[in-house]
Amino acid sequence: MNDTECPFSIFARWYDAARQCGLREPAAMALATADAAGQPSLRMVLLKSHGPDGFVFYTNLESRKGGELVANPKAALCFHWMPLERQVRIQGRVEKVSDEEADAYFASRPRDSQIGAWASDQSRPMKGMRDLEKNVALMAVRFHVGHIPRPDHWSGFRVVPHLIEFWQAKPFRLHERTLYTRTGDDGDWQVTRLFP
Ligand SMILES: Cc1cc2nc3c(=O)[nH]c(=O)nc-3n(C[C@H](O)[C@H](O)[C@H](O)COP(=O)(O)O)c2cc1C
Repeated sequence: MNDTECPFSIFARWYDAARQCGLREPAAMALATADAAGQPSLRMVLLKSHGPDGFVFYTNLESRKGGELVANPKAALCFHWMPLERQVRIQGRVEKVSDEEADAYFASRPRDSQIGAWASDQSRPMKGMRDLEKNVALMAVRFHVGHIPRPDHWSGFRVVPHLIEFWQAKPFRLHERTLYTRTGDDGDWQVTRLFP
């Protein structure tokens, strides 16, 4: 890692390596949000695209995380690629992806996943699995032929980072930590080495 390389290009390199190291879900990342009172909550989601604009995942906008991100549009992400002994931590503001971007991704999903997005009231209580099965059956009838539109309650969020930290394990716990801090809107980053 050299100090002139932009953090998005380092991330792309590391992510490619993670996809080639035999991991079942290299896209899995922990997503931390917080409610209006500052109470953090954490869960896994899948990274669906990344680049200088940020890091995108998709979800139900009416889920717990969806509500928290509307009330407090800030998030943190954490990847751990164990075979590579690498961790990447990201912190930033959050924005919704455009309707066009969400439509295109939704259209690329398997039909059963599209029906699932319509059927699941994610994060809300249900009496039992029969509630979910009933919703799936109803939606399968409703959308039995033709194009399935994206539900209004389902879209993507983009985490636009101001901090990205790369962690690489080294022998004797003398790990290498490199923190990139965005210094303005012009794409400049300050590089800081941190004690492990
Ligand atoms: C490996 C993994 C990947 C997941 N990916 C997603 C995802 O991309 N989007 C999503 O909404 N939930 C995903 N989930 C489920 C979430 O962890 C979580 O249970 C769900 O989104 C509800 O979270 P909430 O109640 O905090 O909103 C995933 C779970 C695991 C274990």
